[in-house]
Amino acid sequence: MDDLLKEIQTLRQAIALASPNDAQELEAFRIRYLGSKGQLKQLFSKLGMLDAAQKKAIGRELNDLKQFAENQYAAHRQRIQQSQVSTSTASEIAGVDITLPGEPLPLGSHHPLSIVRREMVRIFESIGFAVAEGPEIEDDWHNFTSLNMPPDHPARDMQDTFYLSRDPVWVLRTHTSSVQARVLESQPLPVRVICPGRVYRNETISARAHCFFHQVEGLYVSQQVSFADLKQTLYYFVEEMFGHHTRVRFRPSYFPFTEPSAEMDISCTVCGGKGCSLCKYTGWVEILGCGMVHPDLLRNFQIDPEVYTGYAFGMGIERICQLKYRVNDLRLYSQNDLRFLRQFIAAI
Ligand code: PHE
Repeated sequence: MDDLLKEIQTLRQAIALASPNDAQELEAFRIRYLGSKGQLKQLFSKLGMLDAAQKKAIGRELNDLKQFAENQYAAHRQRIQQSQVSTSTASEIAGVDITLPGEPLPLGSHHPLSIVRREMVRIFESIGFAVAEGPEIEDDWHNFTSLNMPPDHPARDMQDTFYLSRDPVWVLRTHTSSVQARVLESQPLPVRVICPGRVYRNETISARAHCFFHQVEGLYVSQQVSFADLKQTLYYFVEEMFGHHTRVRFRPSYFPFTEPSAEMDISCTVCGGKGCSLCKYTGWVEILGCGMVHPDLLRNFQIDPEVYTGYAFGMGIERICQLKYRVNDLRLYSQNDLRFLRQFIAAI
């Protein structure tokens, strides 16, 4: 029995010292120690020669050794597998040609209205306008009353308004002139701002009308501001936006917040003025409303119209976008159809 214990001891040492380095050596380890004709099996077969008490003691030793051998085997296998993974990665890296062009990453594009809004902001900023923003939920004072549209004024009908049902004092702003009211109320003169933003009108949605759209409105109030200044500013805008060949005309119009008021047309960007379906065969398309700020409006903000004058203008971004990109249906802007959106790569 002592001999057997010695053999077990020797075998344990041999197993502990063995260090297979690849799959082949690992398999040799398994066959030698754990295989059906391996050294452990041979020792187990000697148990039969022992009496019951010795069998129990030696059996425990042998089971213990078998467990040890299996653990060693598992540890070696894991080590060898890991080293194989890292060598294959290394060889893969060695095989990569790092001078090849990379896989292209899909890039999004800007929304056409964002592209045009940014361009408009750029043009007006370049001549000294600052950007002002305000809330889309507006009170009656800033959206209407302060702009010379008291509650019974018929001009309120020009803009079909969404009222917030809980309190009709609150509306979804119908134009960004409301931001101009906020600027006049809070900023020292002179002011020279443009107000880009989303506005809402209670209209049936169609190719030509939508319940929300976007505007850029401008306001300049200072001393000795004239209609000539307004025209020059708008000429500059049109030239920058549509090119110097574009012709411009003003038509008298009416807005409650400006006097005199005008609407401005440009020669049709599609047919160049010859006449097409976009310009309804007139050669001209309207792009904005404008005028000199009404003296009553200035008084609403405690500004003396004898000292200060100003001009204001307002236009829809969708319309400018339509003329630039020939988008013929307003609904396309908000349908999130990728086939539409992917056509606009921001060059500007
Ligand atoms: N607020 C007007 C609109 O929404 C546009 C406008 C602004 C007209 C300023 C004249 C002066 O239609």
